[in-house]
Amino acid sequence: MAIHIRDATDRDLPGIIEIERLAFPAPWTMASFQRELTLPFSRIMVALPAASHAHGQDDNGKIAGFLCRWLIADECHVLNIAVHPESRRLGIGTVLLTEAIAEARSTCASVVTLEVRRSNLSARQLYRKFEFEERRLRRHYYGPGEDAIIMELQLN
Ligand SMILES: CC(C)(COP(=O)(O)OP(=O)(O)OC[C@H]1O[C@@H](n2cnc3c(N)ncnc32)[C@H](O)[C@@H]1OP(=O)(O)O)[C@@H](O)C(=O)NCCC(=O)NCCS
Repeated sequence: MAIHIRDATDRDLPGIIEIERLAFPAPWTMASFQRELTLPFSRIMVALPAASHAHGQDDNGKIAGFLCRWLIADECHVLNIAVHPESRRLGIGTVLLTEAIAEARSTCASVVTLEVRRSNLSARQLYRKFEFEERRLRRHYYGPGEDAIIMELQLN
């Protein structure tokens, strides 16, 4: 599937929120995404089917996935990544992560970091494909029995 990536705007927030709610048991609120759009070191990128972009249509509402990252000093931290359940396993998560890593490299960041639920085997598998390493465990980070694994990808 051909995918187009662009930066999110306010108009994308309803589509982002819909995916967020389908993806996570404790979803981010609209206010938290709005805040990210105002932070200079934060970027939310959205993935859309390339066709809607190429034909110059209003691509609003066709968001298939998004990624939110912070770029601070030499570290890119991926705070959030999700793909609509109907569009999973089509390579969209891969395209989003590829873009975030390429951007981090181009700004001379030395590391990409993220946290993932220990039980989230699909996400862990995705990150492993990119050669992220599982560095540390934060016990009960997401609640009782839900540990976080801190993963890192060294860029140099
Ligand atoms: C994790 C997530 C973003 C992956 O997005 P995606 O677009 O489906 O991922 P891709 O199609 O690019 O998959 C890339 C690779 O990840 C791994 N992967 C993805 N989904 C998987 C699954 N359900 N089971 C096992 N491996 C999986 C595979 O290695 C896959 O490669 P393959 O399809 O060639 O085998 C998506 O499953 C999602 O939105 N999950 C809910 C939100 C979430 O958990 N986000 C991560 C928080 S840390």
